Amino acid sequence: MTTNPLRDPRDRRLPRVPEPCALVVFGITGDLARKNLLPAVYDLANRGLLPTNFALLGFARRDWGDVEFAELARTAAREHARTPWREEVWERLASSVRFVQGSFDDDNAFDQLAHALAELEGSHGIGGNAAFYLSIPPAMFPVVLKQMQRTGMADSTPDRWRRVVVEKPFGTDLPSSRELNELVDAVFSADDVFRIDHYLGKETVQNLLALRFANTLFEPIWNGHHVDSVQITMAEDVGIGGRAGFYDQTGAARDVLQNHLLQLLALTAMEEPVEFSAEEIRTEKLKVLRAVSVPTDMATFAVRGQYEQGWLAGQRARGYRQEDGVDPDSTTETYAAVRFGVETRRWAGVPFYLRTGKRLPRRVTEIALSFRKAPHLPFAPTDTEELGHNQLVIRVQPDEGVTLKFGSKVPGSVMEVRDVAMVFLYGEQFTEASPEAYERLLLDVLLGDATLFPRNAEVEASWAAIDPLEEFWAGTEPHPYRAGEWGPRAAEEMLAAEGRQWRRP
Ligand SMILES: NC(=O)c1ccc[n+]([C@@H]2O[C@H](COP(=O)([O-])OP(=O)(O)OC[C@H]3O[C@@H](n4cnc5c(N)ncnc54)[C@H](OP(=O)(O)O)[C@@H]3O)[C@@H](O)[C@H]2O)c1
Repeated sequence: MTTNPLRDPRDRRLPRVPEPCALVVFGITGDLARKNLLPAVYDLANRGLLPTNFALLGFARRDWGDVEFAELARTAAREHARTPWREEVWERLASSVRFVQGSFDDDNAFDQLAHALAELEGSHGIGGNAAFYLSIPPAMFPVVLKQMQRTGMADSTPDRWRRVVVEKPFGTDLPSSRELNELVDAVFSADDVFRIDHYLGKETVQNLLALRFANTLFEPIWNGHHVDSVQITMAEDVGIGGRAGFYDQTGAARDVLQNHLLQLLALTAMEEPVEFSAEEIRTEKLKVLRAVSVPTDMATFAVRGQYEQGWLAGQRARGYRQEDGVDPDSTTETYAAVRFGVETRRWAGVPFYLRTGKRLPRRVTEIALSFRKAPHLPFAPTDTEELGHNQLVIRVQPDEGVTLKFGSKVPGSVMEVRDVAMVFLYGEQFTEASPEAYERLLLDVLLGDATLFPRNAEVEASWAAIDPLEEFWAGTEPHPYRAGEWGPRAAEEMLAAEGRQWRRP
């Protein structure tokens, strides 16, 4: 897709509605489908962004028919939808839902699915177009892909498109992600593969590109001459919930650093794309990810931790090893922090500190650029004792917005300079509500717009940055931190080693 106005004169402010199509969700009875996908489908329908000829198919093992499935979908949509409930919207959607019961190794069930799709072509005019969403355990990807290949369901032709949506984790290391990519690429053509990193569907993440490339103010100082360091944080106050089985095998670095945080790093550090198109943006992100360097002194600059019992919001919180379903001797990390470099002319020498953790004091995701201090201050040293670094903070969630921190004179007859903040909040400046990330991304899949979906080479470059950390950590004990604290002491020491400290968002 191109945005060069000479080649593409469309007004991109106008809503776009996909062509007639079907959405097939494998794993429709799962957590992700209930909490995110089904509500997103309803919200899109409610906003008039689904085509009139649309069908929704669910696939899972439960012994259900279309009626039971429609009931589950209705409950899920009602409970979690972002937009107001309108019965007539649901009624219209409900008339086009189908359920196919079966296990992924059951040839017969896939033949039935192919048959149902063909039938919907006649009854609902879906034009043969379909997107297949793999909302299933990653171990199941191979069998489902093979079934789609066997039945010819994956084949796009000049008359119809067939796309696949793959959920993270995209492998567990570089070799397994390569294997997965090869498998997906053998069945679907590269343009038809949509890898979901739902962070890229968030409004503020897209605003990062607007902030940088639609303004003149920031780009001239967006480099190592002016930026002292960058901190990218994704903190969660929750523990692992009911996902012990998955989390204990995965850990914070594979779950969050490899995908969300490295994607945020790529968008922060990338060069201006030639145009605002999938191809060009992905090309620039890939260049950054390939330029990421891992710390040579891992003992200091790659820290992992695990929460112990503590207090959060006045409530006692269990330690990770006491969580249901977690091995009491588990050495899986629930916190990871690392100092990456980006070896380009723009960023050489600027540390990118990334951290993520569970059971931290609050839920917050932000990108903070800290600028160099003025080379000279024409004030007495005591006047500026309270002056920190100028900072630009992009708040991804919650309270989406941008804050600029700079020094200002304290009112009064003496000269004293202290940090103040200029704050832009989405909620205050705009009346339009932001779509949920899955709403935005599902629509993009149906429209065939891959701008917000990482390419396989990006995934592989990200694993190439994470694998050395995992190798270094293998067999070591994570540093303990108490639930409700901002991570282990070793993470504080990591920044202190370079005369810096973590932000307390
Ligand atoms: N949940 C989240 O918040 C979240 C966030 C990010 C990414 N993800 C990713 O999204 C995917 C789905 O996650 P989830 O949490 O929704 O998983 P889940 O709750 O465990 O759901 C798995 C789904 O797969 C179906 N399934 C499993 N084995 C099957 C088989 N052999 N044949 C047919 N159906 C089978 C299950 O249906 P039946 O048991 O009814 O057959 C169920 O609908 C995973 O790749 C996960 O890593 C999830």
